[in-house]
Amino acid sequence: MLQVSRLKVYFPDNDFTAVDGIDFDIHDGEILALVGESGSGKSLTALSILGLQPVTAELSGEIKFDDLDLCTKPYPAGVRGKRISLIAQDPLSALNPMYSIYGQLSEAVKIYQALGERETYKLCFEYLEKVGIPDPERCLKAYPHEISGGMRQRVMIAMAIINEPDLLIADEPTTALDVTVQAVILQLLKSLGKTILFITHDLGVVAEIADRVLVMKNGKIVEAGTVYDIFEKPSEDYTKHLLGAVPSL
Ligand SMILES: Nc1ncnc2c1ncn2[C@@H]1O[C@H](COP(=O)(O)OP(=O)(O)OP(=O)(O)O)[C@@H](O)[C@H]1O
Ligand SMILES: [Mg+2]
Repeated sequence: MLQVSRLKVYFPDNDFTAVDGIDFDIHDGEILALVGESGSGKSLTALSILGLQPVTAELSGEIKFDDLDLCTKPYPAGVRGKRISLIAQDPLSALNPMYSIYGQLSEAVKIYQALGERETYKLCFEYLEKVGIPDPERCLKAYPHEISGGMRQRVMIAMAIINEPDLLIADEPTTALDVTVQAVILQLLKSLGKTILFITHDLGVVAEIADRVLVMKNGKIVEAGTVYDIFEKPSEDYTKHLLGAVPSL
């Protein structure tokens, strides 16, 4: 589905290479976890796939998505938000407090689908149901501050999948949530059956959700394998160190 080759993210201003020539593939239907300590380059990798890297960054290498190269400028039309979408870390800051949930969800639909008002409403309702919101009608009328953190994250997920993207990128989607809500949202993401690049620094979360794992350190991928490989026989001291931070399962 997506092939990343020799991807580099370089900041010429301070001569800093944040992502240092990484290679990986994302296969159709899998949940691939990208883990690593803070500053290892996870978010920049994700942002590069979406063409949202900082303007001061220089990209090189190749990100192949079908017959497109997402590293080329300008970023290909009709990919971001449609074929590849992002679930942001903090749903409260990602949602606009001035607009109702319907206002924002319907906006996401209108960008890529030419539907009438009634169909748009139906679609929004349907996707809120799909992400487990008990009373979609009430939720659509509400403003972000009127619903709980877990509900807001569900809304974010609905927004990310409403245009049926081929690939979902989730950058720490549950970090802002408390542990019980976190578990429910992880189950929901898993049950969608989507291809997901899942970014986290929490290996406990990885065990619950991922098929394969990439371990990143200082801009490089230092270890890659199935969840079983990584948990049962981590080859890198760094991975063992990350595992050490997880209570035993
Ligand atoms: N706009 C920028 N200019 C210069 N350096 C940057 C910029 N954005 C990020 N960096 C640096 O690039 C490195 C990787 O950042 P990135 O955000 O990808 O880390 P991360 O792995 O997502 O960390 P975290 O777990 O804290 O989110 C960091 O050292 C960061 O300071
Ligand atoms: Mg990050």
